[in-house]
Amino acid sequence: MRGVFITFEGIEGAGKSTISEMASRYVASKGLRVVGTYEPGDTAAGREIRTILLDPAHEGMHPLTELLLYFADRAEHVHRLIRPALDRGEVVLCDRFTDSTVAYQGFGRGLDLKTLRDIDAVARDGVWPELTILLDIDARAGLKRNSRAGKRDRLEMEDTGFHERVREGFLSIARSEPERVKVVDASRPVDAVFAEVRELMDRVLPDGRA
Ligand code: TMP
Repeated sequence: MRGVFITFEGIEGAGKSTISEMASRYVASKGLRVVGTYEPGDTAAGREIRTILLDPAHEGMHPLTELLLYFADRAEHVHRLIRPALDRGEVVLCDRFTDSTVAYQGFGRGLDLKTLRDIDAVARDGVWPELTILLDIDARAGLKRNSRAGKRDRLEMEDTGFHERVREGFLSIARSEPERVKVVDASRPVDAVFAEVRELMDRVLPDGRA
């Protein structure tokens, strides 16, 4: 795997999609080949898995079913899209990866972290980000941003307590892996957030043609 793998993480409304799109444009502007992708759902099978996962009709889905569906999506994503791109030497920017599973299914749903990490290792099969940008925002502020954007899927319908546990989960991962996971205050205007993100990416990106 010759490429660079960078992930973006955070709770709902932290601005991940906006920032990761800006990041893709930035990497391309450096003359590097970039793949912008996300979980769950950026493969043909993954799109169907995402529909099941986020459908409010499955409100009572068992947490273990939910966990295994996220892993099914990841296995497909890693093998069909992420690893082939890394093998071609490309920069892969991924909106959510393993840390989301630890934060949402581990800290949010209370599933056993050791079991979760063991199955995750099978699903991702050695692929691991060299940099993770955690866009951090207060849970209430994030949910408010999302409701203004009209978003309301099955996970967004969870109460504020759930999203607070998820945020704490992300922060706890960042405390235990400070080299990989960089916390960026996402409550600021988007340009300020992106300026910090760009600096962090520059530390792991090759120079490119520019
Ligand atoms: P998003 O694409 O709008 O971020 O929605 C994906 C939802 O899936 C979001 O609520 C976070 C959740 N999620 C998990 O619960 N576990 C995971 O492993 C991943 C990748 C996402």
